[in-house]
Amino acid sequence: MNKKLGLTALGAALAIGLTACGGSGAGANSNTADQSASDLTIGVSMPTQTSERWIADGNSVKEQLEKEGYKVDLQYANDDIPTQGQQVDQMITEGADLLIVAAIDGTALSSQLQAAADASIPVISYDRLIRDTENVDFYVSFDNYKVGVAQGTALLAGLGVTDKDGKKANATGPFNIELFAGSLDDNNAHFFFDGAMDTLKPYIQDGTLVVKSGQTDIEQAAILRWQQETAQKRMEDLLTGSYNDGSKIAGVLSPYDGISRGIITALQNAGYGQGSPMPVVTGQDAEIASVKLINDGVQSSTIFKDTRKLAEQAVTAAKAFLEGNKPEANDTKTYDNGVKVVPSYLLPVETVYKDDIKSKLIDSGYWTADEVAKGQSN
Ligand code: GAL
Repeated sequence: MNKKLGLTALGAALAIGLTACGGSGAGANSNTADQSASDLTIGVSMPTQTSERWIADGNSVKEQLEKEGYKVDLQYANDDIPTQGQQVDQMITEGADLLIVAAIDGTALSSQLQAAADASIPVISYDRLIRDTENVDFYVSFDNYKVGVAQGTALLAGLGVTDKDGKKANATGPFNIELFAGSLDDNNAHFFFDGAMDTLKPYIQDGTLVVKSGQTDIEQAAILRWQQETAQKRMEDLLTGSYNDGSKIAGVLSPYDGISRGIITALQNAGYGQGSPMPVVTGQDAEIASVKLINDGVQSSTIFKDTRKLAEQAVTAAKAFLEGNKPEANDTKTYDNGVKVVPSYLLPVETVYKDDIKSKLIDSGYWTADEVAKGQSN
């Protein structure tokens, strides 16, 4: 039985009053406002442990919530949609007071979130927008369209078509490129691809860039669950399908470091990086294995999204809800989840090339010099 049903009549009246004056519907959790942090449990549902990035996110969120005194139930779902559904269900039945969820499939949690709303449990969508439900109260993420723009720009800059700020430079090509996108069930994948394509399109149209395979739609470029192996396979198919006439590929748009590593393996197996130069390959997340590849001159760039800061925003928003307040949003327009525009807090992103590893990743304490040299976290 949910512990919130044990409210006193006075508490219930107070809760209704607070909800009416400025709560956010299902998320107004003024029931918890007079409880101490140590009596409150936060369910944190993360997609997978196969990626460094989500391990770092999970750890940061847990640590920071515990520092505030909350109890934390952190679960990883192995990139399996039913597992995530069960884990969230269980968090709710065990009496979680708030949920922080990074969804595997952004549309697959509607029934769980209805149960959360019925129990007045606020839901924070973490990095990936939860779609097609009214029962998501806040979204913390990065500026995902800008991530795409930064990836497109990094590809252009790597080829010498523009400088790092996107200003036209000397190289005129034509350069053969190929395009990769993330998992179609992840809302972010669409923002990344749109931002990148808006940046690359003028250069595709004027012939500077040539997508030799002709595969320019997101459906053709997408990699289900952002899997490295799937990306490797698609790159192998592209090489045999479109580059078996001796032509060379000069650049690959990749939306995420795991996908980049799959692409790089396929390219290396085909002889790139030995006889012919390694194409410019972009990335995202500053995963340690990829930071090493950038340091070694194999991968060209990544997008650094400081997961410590994202965790901090999630914790700030969680605290606000649990204290009966509304978290502060800095974007109330962009993230329409199909049912409503979800108030969001978006963080800025930074592109990292080899020259930036020290100033942006090591000096900020994200990775140590030793970890970068080994390509492994300590
Ligand atoms: C996205 C996220 C990216 C990357 C990708 C694969 O949702 O925004 O940073 O981590 O998932 O995990």
